[in-house]
Amino acid sequence: MKLIFASQNKNKVLEVKSLMPPSIELLSLSDIHFNEDIEETESTIEGNALLKARTIYTKTQMNCFADDSGLLIDALDGSPGVYSARYAGEPKNDEANLQKVLHQLSGIENRKAHFKTVMALIINGKEFLCEGIINGTIISAKKGANGFGYDPIFVPNGCSKTFAELDLKEKSTISHRALALQKMISILNNLE
Ligand code: IMP
Repeated sequence: MKLIFASQNKNKVLEVKSLMPPSIELLSLSDIHFNEDIEETESTIEGNALLKARTIYTKTQMNCFADDSGLLIDALDGSPGVYSARYAGEPKNDEANLQKVLHQLSGIENRKAHFKTVMALIINGKEFLCEGIINGTIISAKKGANGFGYDPIFVPNGCSKTFAELDLKEKSTISHRALALQKMISILNNLE
């Protein structure tokens, strides 16, 4: 079965491709010559994942999925959440986002947070939402040089290192994205 991944991010497409069952032929947006930007206008992570998947399904009538992720911090009522990529404003800047979070949490004792990914899958018009969550804490200063986004300030529960101190393989076995992907793959494996 052909399945479109509604993402312009080449690294994500490669990572997901390597984990797909052999019965799935994964196509990227560039494989189908779709170069438009899909604006993420919804106010939730679920909403944006569905919006992107529905846009591609409506245009192509092909089976597809899209993902959306964010960091949700308890003491900030779930912020930055759906606005994680541009928390400190335009243009998108990982360092400024992370510094904004550290500033907002300075002096605050409750450092609990979680990363969440939602993958919205559409198969023959039927929609499925697959969620992956990893709980952890926000430390008070950056540690580690790997990864991206908020990785240097997030320590997953049960781990002594930040996401940015783990190598890609270690992170991608426990990450929110990996968990959502596992759920989606099990749906794909059980399709009739
Ligand atoms: P996306 O929907 O996967 O593009 O993620 C949106 C934003 O959430 C990113 O730009 C990052 O700021 C943040 N984010 C998502 N996943 C991660 C992660 O694994 N590590 C660090 N930051 C992340």
